Amino acid sequence: MCGIIGYLGKNEKKEILLDGLQELEYRGYDSAGIAIIENKKLKNFKAVGRLKNLREKTKDYLSEGFGVSIGHTRWATHGKPTELNAHPHMGAYSFVVHNGIIENYQELKKELQAQGVNFLSQTDTETIVHLFEKNHDMSNNTWQAFQTTLSKLEGAYATLLITEADEESIYFAKNGSPMLIGFDGEDIYFASSDTPIIGKATEVYYLEDGEFGYAKDGKIYLFDANGEKAFSTQALATDKAMAQKDGYRFFMEKEIYEQGQVMNDTMMGRVLDDKIDLEELDLNLFENITNIKICACGTSYHSALSASYLFERISKIPCQIEIASEFRYKEPLLREDTLFITISQSGETADTLEALKMAKRAGLKSLSICNVDNSSIVRESDASILTRAGIEKGVASTKAFATQTMVLWMLAIYVAQAKKTISSELLEQELQAMRETPKALIVNDKLHAKMTRLSKRYLHGHGFFFIGRDIFYPLALEGALKLKEISYLHAEGYPSGEMKHGPIALADAELFTIALMPKSLHYEKIKSNVEELCARDVTLLAISPEPFELADDYVQTTYNSHPMLEFFEMMVITQLLALEISVRLGNDVDMPRNLAKSVTVE
Ligand code: AGP
Repeated sequence: MCGIIGYLGKNEKKEILLDGLQELEYRGYDSAGIAIIENKKLKNFKAVGRLKNLREKTKDYLSEGFGVSIGHTRWATHGKPTELNAHPHMGAYSFVVHNGIIENYQELKKELQAQGVNFLSQTDTETIVHLFEKNHDMSNNTWQAFQTTLSKLEGAYATLLITEADEESIYFAKNGSPMLIGFDGEDIYFASSDTPIIGKATEVYYLEDGEFGYAKDGKIYLFDANGEKAFSTQALATDKAMAQKDGYRFFMEKEIYEQGQVMNDTMMGRVLDDKIDLEELDLNLFENITNIKICACGTSYHSALSASYLFERISKIPCQIEIASEFRYKEPLLREDTLFITISQSGETADTLEALKMAKRAGLKSLSICNVDNSSIVRESDASILTRAGIEKGVASTKAFATQTMVLWMLAIYVAQAKKTISSELLEQELQAMRETPKALIVNDKLHAKMTRLSKRYLHGHGFFFIGRDIFYPLALEGALKLKEISYLHAEGYPSGEMKHGPIALADAELFTIALMPKSLHYEKIKSNVEELCARDVTLLAISPEPFELADDYVQTTYNSHPMLEFFEMMVITQLLALEISVRLGNDVDMPRNLAKSVTVE
C-alpha cells in the first residue's frame, strides 16, 4: 500500500527520497514519484512501474543546498497506475503526497471544478492540493490554508505538502494511515514506517491520528484538535541487517528459513520451565471475560482460525472468529464480557483497525497480536503481544503466520492456566512441544531440493485443493493462499470432510490435491476422505509421516506426538511448494502482482 517519504535539510535529496522509497517497496506499489523545492527551483519526476524507472528518469538530476522534498510509491485505488495518477500531485505551485482514501473527494472535486480548477488525474489525492491552493489564494497564509484544507477532508490519510508559497516548510497530517517523523540534528524525515530512515535519523516520533503541523528550521510544530502540543521522541532502531536478503534469492525464501530462529525470539521469556508467562498482559484483562472474538484478515485470519480450536479445546472458552471486512458491516452484537483480539502482521490493516475501533466503542476490552510495535493497531489496543518475527518483506506472509500461531498457542495455554482448565501433565506436554517447535521449522537441504523437484509437476491443471481437518484445515487455507498469491494458480483450502458435499464433483486427474495427513490428529478420518478423492482419480500429493500408497507424490514428515509440531512442519512444506512453483513460473516472488504488504484501505 502507498508509501510516503519526506526530507527537509541540506543533504542531497534525490538519493534520500529514492533510497527511502526502495525501503518501502515491500508495501506494494505500481508507480512512484518525487518533488523537491530548493533555491526557488521546483523539480518533479514520476514513473510507472518499478523504482528503477524513476531512477533512470532522475539520473541527471542532483539537488543542492537546503530544501524540502517529498516522495511516494503508489498502489492504485482511484484511477489506473499511470504517470498522471502517480504522486506527488501538483497544483499551480504546490505538491502533495497522500496515503489512504479521501472519502468525500467527489464532492470536493465537483466544488473545485465549478470554481474553474482543472484536474489532471483520476485520484482522490489531487483534491488536497487544489483545495489548499484555493484556500491559500484567499488567505495568503499557508498554515491557515493547510488547516482549512484538513478540516474539509473526510476519510483516512497520511499526507505531506510542500509549496512554493513557503519554500522552507513541509506540512503534514495523519489520520488513520501511518506516518512518523525522524530527527537527526536539524534534518527532518517523514516516512510511512521506520525502515527508510534507519541509519539516517537517530530519533523518531510516531504521529497519532488527528495530529498535523509543519516542519520548519529543523523543528516540528505539532498540533491536534486542542491546539499546539508538546511531544517527545524516542531512539530509532538501528538494525537494518534483518531486513536484507542475506544471500537468499528472495525475501520470502529467507523468511521461510528464518522461522526456526525467530520462533526462539517469540518464545523467549514467555515459555518458562513450568508455565507460560506473558508479562505484557495484566490478568485484569481477563476479568469477567466469558468468551473471545478474534478478528483479522488474510493470513492473520488463518492463524486466528487455528487458534479457535486451541482456545475451545485447551482454555475451555468459547471463541468466535471474524473476517474483519465482514465484521465491520454485519451490525455485530457485542457484549462486554467478550475479549476482542485482533491479529495483524503490519498493525496497519484498515479493516482490522476499524473493527477494533468498533469493538472499543462498544466497550469491549481489546488485545492485539502484532509484528510491528507502535503500529496503529497496537496503539489502539488495551494490550498487545508482539510476535517478534522481525521485518517481513515478502508480500506473502510466512514467518509472521508462524509466530502469530505460536503467540496464540501460548495465549491459549496462558488463559487455561488462569482459568485452571489445564492439568499439570497436559501443561508439561504443551510446553515441551513448544520448545521443540524451532526444530520442526528447520528447512533441510534435502527437503528443499525435493520440493524444487516436485514443483515442476504442478504448473498447470485446473486447480489445487489443499485439504485438512481440525487445525490442519486453517493450514490448508493458508497453503492455498500462499500458492495463489505468488503462483497466480487457482487454489482452495477445504476441510477434507467437506469435499464430498460438493467439491468432489471437480475431481479428475487434473485436480491437484495437497492432503495434510498428520498422524497425531484424526489420521483415519482424513485418510478415508483422501481415498474417496483418489477413487475419482485426482492427482494427489500427500504430506504425512505415514506412507500413503495411493499418493502420486509423497513428502514424508516426522512422526510427532503433538499436532502443533506436525502443523509447523507441514506449514514449511506448503510454503516451499508455493515458492518453487512461483520460481518456475518466473513470477515476482516478493512482490506478486496486484498485492500490497500493508493494506491500509478498505
Ligand atoms: C498474506 O500472505 C497476505 N499478503 C495477506 O493476506 C495479509 O495477511 C492480510 O492482508 C492481513 O495483513 P496484516 O496481517 O498485516 O493485517
